[in-house]
Amino acid sequence: MSIYILAIESSCDDTSAAVIKDGEVLSNIVSVQTAHAEFGGVVPELASREHQIHIIPVVDAALKKAGITPDFLNAIAFTKGPGLLGSLIVGVTFAKSMALSLNIPLIDVHHMHAHVLAHFSENPHPRMPFLCLTVSGGHTQIIKVTNHLEMEILGQTLDDAAGEAFDKTGKMLGLPYPAGPNIDKLAKLGEPIYEFPISDIKNLDFSFSGLKTAIMYFLRDHVKSDENFISKEINNICASVQHTIIETLIQKLKKASQVTGINVVAIAGGVSANSGLRERLIAEAELHNWEYHIPSFEFCRDNAGMIGTAGYYKYLNNEFCKQDVAAEARLPF
Ligand code: KG4
Ligand code: ZN
Repeated sequence: MSIYILAIESSCDDTSAAVIKDGEVLSNIVSVQTAHAEFGGVVPELASREHQIHIIPVVDAALKKAGITPDFLNAIAFTKGPGLLGSLIVGVTFAKSMALSLNIPLIDVHHMHAHVLAHFSENPHPRMPFLCLTVSGGHTQIIKVTNHLEMEILGQTLDDAAGEAFDKTGKMLGLPYPAGPNIDKLAKLGEPIYEFPISDIKNLDFSFSGLKTAIMYFLRDHVKSDENFISKEINNICASVQHTIIETLIQKLKKASQVTGINVVAIAGGVSANSGLRERLIAEAELHNWEYHIPSFEFCRDNAGMIGTAGYYKYLNNEFCKQDVAAEARLPF
């Protein structure tokens, strides 16, 4: 008999629902919240309200696209954390209510585990063990994945995340939020002619706050002597910042591969949509003879398909949670 799982993701500013049948993603609907753009970042209170508006239509669309009715479902998987508490609560409460009404089990999923397991939402699956560089708006981690249920952090950011470095740079350049995709586009039109510092941390951890400060002073000094500096040079600035972020990430990934002897590497999370990072990973993989995995765009950003995939492996291992489960904004890895 087939296993059908409904998955719900509401950790930040996108409401998403997916249906997974025996580990295959049948539907993966994402409703992107545009209400935050004018504020230059996600406004938590607005995000929760938007989730409340969108969750029922999004779940309905996911079921319809998968061609099933709720009575097909064997379990409901949802993001327990980490994320914005008000946003998480909408998804958790919806999942609990629906599971109760259908009398089916609940599966709590860690958002960062799910970004890694997004590689199993499509083919080919990575060979285990593999290294996953997870780069998103809130996290930057190098993960050693032993199996679907066992993974450990080898290194992570001590301050800002890679996505945050893109977004904060964009804010200084006057680009709309989230700036990552815009910087990616503009970087293609420029050259990395400006040099920014790469943090010198000895282990596999990262730091991006120094880069942010360096960019701030760089812009302040250049704008002092030419007030049109940013508009004239925006393509080269974007190319230079992007180059620095990619260099920082790839240097650590190379180090992680050397230290662990693992030559299967993957990238995940919103920043893994970056075209420069994707190209660079392929080039490095060819150079070092790595097996590499780059998710489709659909599975890079926040989406319920990855939550359902993570939920599926927990289902197979009989890992369910109780009705008294609560959202956790700072859920430990
Ligand atoms: O994984 P995600 O959708 O949400 C979080 O869990 O944070 O990641 C969002 C982040 C944002 O910082 C956004 O600017 C960044 O991913 N991002 C990109 C690109 N597309 C999204 N950064 C660089 N280049 C892109 N093409
Ligand atoms: Zn995410």
